[in-house]
Amino acid sequence: MMELRIQLIPTGEIILPPGKNGESYCHNCTKAVGSDGVRVMMESALTARDRVGVQDFVLLENHTSEVAFIENLRKRFKENLIYTYIGSVLVSVNPYKDLEIYTKQHMERYRGVNFYEVSPHIYAVSDNAYRSMRTERRDQCILISGESGAGKTEASKKVLQYYAVTCPASDKVQTVKDRLLQSNPVLEAFGNAKTLRNDNSSRFGKYMDIQFDFKGAPVGGHILNYLLEKSRVVHQSHGERNFHIFYQLIEGGEEDLLRRLGLERNAQQYQYLVKGNCPKVSSINDRNDWKVVRKALTVIGFTDDDVEELLNIIASVLHLGNVQYGSEESGNAYITTDSQIKYLSRLIGVDGSVLKEALTHKKIIAKGEELMSPLNQEQAASARDALSKAIYGRTFTWLVNKINASLEFKDSSFSSKNASVIGLLDIYGFEVFQNNSFEQFCINYCNEKLQQLFIELTLKSEQDEYEAEGITWEPVQYFNNKIICDLVEEKFKGIISILDEECLRPGDASDITFLEKLEDTVGGHPHFVTHKLADGKTRKVMGREEFRLLHYAGEVNYNVNGFLDKNNDLLFRNLKEAMCMSENKILTQCFDREELTDKKRPETAATQFKTSLAQLMEILMSKEPSYVRCIKPNDAKQAGRFDEVLIRHQVKYLGLMENLRVRRAGFAYRRRYETFLQRYKSLCPETWPNWQGRLVDGVSTLVKHLGYKPEEYKLGRTKIFIRFPKTLFATEDALEVRKHSLATKLQACWKGYSQKTKYRKLRRSAIVIQAWWRGILARRRAQRRRQAAETIRRFIKGFIYRHQPRCPENEYFLDYVRYSFLMKLSRNLPKNVLDKSWPTPPPALAEASEHLRKLCMQNMVWKYCKTISPEWKHQLEQKMVASEIFKDKKDNYPQSVPKLFVSTRLNGEDINPKVVQALGTDKMKYAVPVTKYDRKGYKARSRQLLLMGNSAIIAEEAKVKQRIDYSALKGISVSSLSDGVFVIHVVCEDNKQKGDVVLQSDHVIETLTKVAICADKINSINISQGSIKFTVGQGKEGIIDFTSGSELIVAKAKNGHLSVTAPRLNSR
Ligand SMILES: Nc1ncnc2c1ncn2[C@@H]1O[C@H](COP(=O)(O)OP(=O)(O)OP(=O)(O)O)[C@@H](O)[C@H]1O
Ligand SMILES: [Mg+2]
Repeated sequence: MMELRIQLIPTGEIILPPGKNGESYCHNCTKAVGSDGVRVMMESALTARDRVGVQDFVLLENHTSEVAFIENLRKRFKENLIYTYIGSVLVSVNPYKDLEIYTKQHMERYRGVNFYEVSPHIYAVSDNAYRSMRTERRDQCILISGESGAGKTEASKKVLQYYAVTCPASDKVQTVKDRLLQSNPVLEAFGNAKTLRNDNSSRFGKYMDIQFDFKGAPVGGHILNYLLEKSRVVHQSHGERNFHIFYQLIEGGEEDLLRRLGLERNAQQYQYLVKGNCPKVSSINDRNDWKVVRKALTVIGFTDDDVEELLNIIASVLHLGNVQYGSEESGNAYITTDSQIKYLSRLIGVDGSVLKEALTHKKIIAKGEELMSPLNQEQAASARDALSKAIYGRTFTWLVNKINASLEFKDSSFSSKNASVIGLLDIYGFEVFQNNSFEQFCINYCNEKLQQLFIELTLKSEQDEYEAEGITWEPVQYFNNKIICDLVEEKFKGIISILDEECLRPGDASDITFLEKLEDTVGGHPHFVTHKLADGKTRKVMGREEFRLLHYAGEVNYNVNGFLDKNNDLLFRNLKEAMCMSENKILTQCFDREELTDKKRPETAATQFKTSLAQLMEILMSKEPSYVRCIKPNDAKQAGRFDEVLIRHQVKYLGLMENLRVRRAGFAYRRRYETFLQRYKSLCPETWPNWQGRLVDGVSTLVKHLGYKPEEYKLGRTKIFIRFPKTLFATEDALEVRKHSLATKLQACWKGYSQKTKYRKLRRSAIVIQAWWRGILARRRAQRRRQAAETIRRFIKGFIYRHQPRCPENEYFLDYVRYSFLMKLSRNLPKNVLDKSWPTPPPALAEASEHLRKLCMQNMVWKYCKTISPEWKHQLEQKMVASEIFKDKKDNYPQSVPKLFVSTRLNGEDINPKVVQALGTDKMKYAVPVTKYDRKGYKARSRQLLLMGNSAIIAEEAKVKQRIDYSALKGISVSSLSDGVFVIHVVCEDNKQKGDVVLQSDHVIETLTKVAICADKINSINISQGSIKFTVGQGKEGIIDFTSGSELIVAKAKNGHLSVTAPRLNSR
């Protein structure tokens, strides 16, 4: 295959560059160039294998040719490509073999991807419906149609599986998903059977709603069932079977279960299972299926008791089938198989005799009296069969209700209003048998209705819409089957009305009179024929008891036998009564006592069916449909066999060609202006965020901005029509991109808002904390101020009362004054003994202060004393003596204080050794050079004064001139002036003594202190203010006069006195 080369330019136009020879490249692509150019794009995205034929019939070159259509189907079928589109309708051909196209990977591939971007698949349809539901919030339905065995049920299961796998899930949702999935095997076991057409043929119609919450997760479901083919319970055509559950129970049921149910593991034993003579089917494994069903029942929520009760009913139907009758002579029927009655009585909990009577009699009410009328053998058998059908049919309805209860979404916040729904319709396909009865009539009527709906929703409505919207349009011819629907269902004139009338009218109504009535009433209808009305050719293929309907899907002959009975669906009153007595819980729900008292005649089966179909149509009309058209490739259920005749027939009656023609001429997509604008307005600055003008102008502005070309779209009265999906997908993609920037903006706004909120909250908190803290601080400050004021007040009061004795008013003040004085004192204690400073004490502490001062002084003295040396002590002692003698008495005393007394002023070498010798052992204590004044002439002579232990010696050079014993020392006189002259008075009686001695020392204070100490004459020193008298021997007296002067002068005055002029000192 040649490589496909495509160049996509921004306008959406496709340009295929010419090949070397200017020829086209690929037979598939060239066909699509032109107005369908975009479709080449779609094709190109697929793999080569997917491109077998065309994946959308719309791409067919000869779209009006049925041959081309079927050829395309065939080509793809051969390559196992069973799915092909007609626009958005999926055509599916049953492959009759397992294809590897339903894996999880496949599901992922289709998830969230545009319809045309991937190869056609049932998953694409499912995903598209799901996304439409999510984005447009519109309920969807997927209508699966096709004849029996075409693959409708399989397709519906695939859809369900797709949702179960790909939709968002939580634990709760998982349970719902499981239940939704598991409802299938249960319903199939009870409602499907092997027919000639299909080994797993649905013998009831099923419409299932899957409910999704706002997050798109499946949260619940609801099933509507339609007309179960009950007659199958009691009779099957050759080659067909009863419902699967009977065989599954017999094949798969455990030994003791079968024993309990009184069943044998042999289907041949049961009358109801032998009619078709086909107990085993190669494609069916009843034993395995039994296990699946048993498990599924548990998943759905059946308790063991529920299952037991249910199986009791299934077994009792089999036992009922085996109830046999004999005929008495009178013709009355009697039961020959008592053992069956025993089982039955046990299984359904009804008294055996009651059952027996009910199965052989009929209750008649005549003139208000109840009479039991015996039945003949045939009547009894049909009563028995009616009971079996009723039991099975009602149990099936109960089963559906039970499943519905388990699928019901029980969340109070969830209501069906805010749920989105996808409906799945899998209803029995159109069927034609050799012998067609009431059931086929109903089934085919149902298919007729669905076809009508299809026409309404696609062909007719599409064309009507173009017309209504004023879009130029060339009408496409198609067959509208409304005429057939009317033939069947019209009031008074329709077949169902006529049938009901025959059922209800008094007199001898029979199936034959019904046929006659039909001939009378609808005999002229173009779609109705009977043997009597038919032409010769038709007559050959019609029985006398048949009528033929020319359905949209083909002609079907219906045998009227049993029509009335089946339509009446009667069950004798006494059988109903017996069932009402049942102890089986399911049966008590199925047979309501109220039914017995209800005088109203129940609706006939056909009318019931008609009503329920009308309701179904209403449900479907309210939703947006997606179509899956199933085609059956052959009647032999064989893989790979493509029976062209059979397929052409289906293509025809499914209306696929008309569908294609409308599609080709039409527009792929349409939306109301407001919806379109609402969805895409963000893509154009003029329409975003809001368009103020007319909607049509808004849409026009928007599409121009998006670069739509004129041939790509048309604007109708209320809607925009877009021709190619590609155009829409490009817009969708642009929206997808735009969503990011919108999301970013939203995020930013939201983040800003949330941060601002957070900030405000923080700020509020901070302010609260601040306020609190400020409050605390202010309270503390206020308290301090209060305390301070209080203290000041106490202070002032204390101050006022300070002179009063201690009282509460002043105690604080007094204490404080004391305290502060003591504290001040402690800080300002005198540092040494000379420091005389001392804080002034408050009056109250005057005494204490004095004590303290003393103590302090003592302490300092003591401390000082501890540190002084003996020499210094000696010095101080001498100074003390000097102080005692001279302080404040002699002028030059103050000058002497700082000068230290020396131990001696003359050393050994200064004293003549002879003197030393003369003094002997007496120890010399002090020696000082002095000046001696003669007693007479006062001549000054230099001498040495030596103080010994007992005497003072006056020495001149080597001579001891005078020795004065201390005992003879009377006293010493000295002037108060600053001179150094002093007189040593001696005792005069001693003649040896020469009288008092006048001396002068430069260190008079030191010298006299030493003399006083040595001679112990401290108190004998006389400090004279004026003159000093002294004795000069033999009673004579001398006088020394002292005067102050500028300098020291010692001289003999004229008066004969010694005159001493002492220099004045600053200190005095
Ligand atoms: N997609 C498929 N892949 C494989 N086999 C399929 C597929 N579809 C259908 N079949 C086969 O075809 C058989 C019949 O299909 P199905 O039961 O779905 O038919 P139907 O249309 O529901 O018929 P009826 O109207 O009788 O119920 C299935 O049992 C299965 O064997
Ligand atoms: Mg089916």
